[in-house]
Amino acid sequence: MESVRESAAQPESWTDAVGAPATASAVEYDFSNFYYSSSDDALAVLRPYNAWYSQARPQGYFLFGQPMATAPRPYIELKEQSELRRVQLLNLSSYNYLGLSYRPEVVQAAKDALDVYGLGAAGSPILSGTMQIHDDLQKELARFKGTEAAVIYPSGYSTNVGLISGLMRAGDVVIMDQNAHASCVDGAILSKAETRFFRHNQAEDLEKKLKKVAGKKVLVIVEGVYSMDGDVCPLPDIVEVTRRYGARIMIDEAHSSFIYGPTGRGVVEMYGLKDQIDIHLGTFSKALGGMGGYVACSTDMYRYLDAFSRARFFSCALSPVVAAGVLESLRIVQREPELRTKLWENVAYIRGLLDAQGVDVGESTSQIIPVMVRDDRRIMRVARHMQEAGLYLQPVRYPAVTKHRSRFRISISAAHSFEQLDSAAEILVSVLRKEGILA
Ligand SMILES: Cc1ncc(COP(=O)(O)O)c(C=O)c1O
Repeated sequence: MESVRESAAQPESWTDAVGAPATASAVEYDFSNFYYSSSDDALAVLRPYNAWYSQARPQGYFLFGQPMATAPRPYIELKEQSELRRVQLLNLSSYNYLGLSYRPEVVQAAKDALDVYGLGAAGSPILSGTMQIHDDLQKELARFKGTEAAVIYPSGYSTNVGLISGLMRAGDVVIMDQNAHASCVDGAILSKAETRFFRHNQAEDLEKKLKKVAGKKVLVIVEGVYSMDGDVCPLPDIVEVTRRYGARIMIDEAHSSFIYGPTGRGVVEMYGLKDQIDIHLGTFSKALGGMGGYVACSTDMYRYLDAFSRARFFSCALSPVVAAGVLESLRIVQREPELRTKLWENVAYIRGLLDAQGVDVGESTSQIIPVMVRDDRRIMRVARHMQEAGLYLQPVRYPAVTKHRSRFRISISAAHSFEQLDSAAEILVSVLRKEGILA
């Protein structure tokens, strides 16, 4: 990894700072060039990074974090950041897999909670931050997942960090899939356990890693559906190996809970492996259209996490307004299985359209469909053209995926109509063709 080279005097240009030729194009460099600085000033990296960013931004980085003026519906209004115009775009980017974030019942439940509880919990869950609505949500979730208890956190990120660092210690071992989410990695780092990675979805490689750490306390971490590739974990093989070596297994079902399995309980339900999984975790920010995360677990685990999970202990509880909205979303998931049916019909429909045109969607089989571009520089220009053509489709490049694996990531929702998916596929294919990415 290249780092910023600086001495006492700060360089004027970012190219000097990263040792690039003066004519270098900003889009050929990325965040990794600005992690380190050799200066003894903790803030010395800011100036070269910002000099680089001010060139990278007009070349495509303006597409990140554009403010939306509407709910994440199939069509959204956005304040486009290159010319600062309001534009209407067909949305293929939101995680709102069941269209629940703006459902009237969900919005009403949140409004009612706002009247009762006010905006925030005003305390950590262990002190004064637990309100009746948190308790109701935890109980409903445990009932839905078929576990004794459920612990909730203010985000999916803090759930992974809090759980892993709450359970694992120096001298222990965490072995996770190489494509596991950053929050799993950060939780493992914070725990100080030795952290290893096995090749994506390869049980044989997991076995090699497990062999090397025989006799240690080991936690294996996988995801139900991988967030950047949209492929599903081969859970039966992973569970079999993990059990054979006496390790524990945790699954993060951020992108699969509430949509996979006959009743929406997730990939674990789809495979019929509920009793084989030690720790079952997920988020409210995807299919439920809210925010927050949970661990569905035993009462023993609940009590331990309450005391040892610092991301819970030392952080304000989830807003009661969000908790109420999420609880209503969870009830809708249970009473409207047709939402899942529509989601999977939509996924099959757009897959059919993309496959017919030969679009490269990698290994995806889920509602997350990557459109592989594999060119870190070009993707920013193509992304700009996607937006100009009317699609809200985010470019994904390093550090969200490894270098040279850049892609667009389509998120399908039950709220999309077939007509909207027809338009989306038409625009996508036409831009990919014009850009020479698709023959
Ligand atoms: C697999 C996985 N786990 C955890 C998270 C973090 O969840 P949240 O965004 O709710 O904090 C994400 C976010 O996308 C994710 O993909």
